[in-house]
Amino acid sequence: MSLEQTLSIVKPDAVKANVIGGIVDKLERGGLRIVAQKMIRLTETQAQSFYAEHKDRPFFSDLIKFMIEGPVVVQILEGDSAISTNRDIMGATNSKEAASGTIRHAFGTDIERNAVHGSDSQQAAEREIAFFFSQAERVALS
Ligand code: CMP
Repeated sequence: MSLEQTLSIVKPDAVKANVIGGIVDKLERGGLRIVAQKMIRLTETQAQSFYAEHKDRPFFSDLIKFMIEGPVVVQILEGDSAISTNRDIMGATNSKEAASGTIRHAFGTDIERNAVHGSDSQQAAEREIAFFFSQAERVALS
């Protein structure tokens, strides 16, 4: 196991449902530490750029509409194998298929309104962290 950082987004559905705390609780109990966090409202351009890899998928325009419908919370999570640990805590992308106890099972609705995003690889984590956080905003704990 190695210490990693990953990018997490509490999506507009979860912010609107007032469950940021419930999500943070699951992340912390799962062994992850929040080392940077802020609430922002994505612009359409930002959302399109963040999700650029999906631009040709049929769900892209609905995904962008959803991600800009209200504020989100972006977080840097740190911990042992943080990228895979966070994906385990989040559960399956489709909330309807997510295992009991996961964030998406507890707080998501379906494949689109799935409460959270988490980086899916080391390369994605580096890109996504740099997308939202400047060096000055990254807290060094050790
Ligand atoms: P996320 O982990 O943020 O990464 C891309 C997002 O696209 C995903 O979560 C879902 O919210 C959304 N998504 C992925 N597949 C589909 C799909 N088949 N239909 C609608 N939305 C999807």
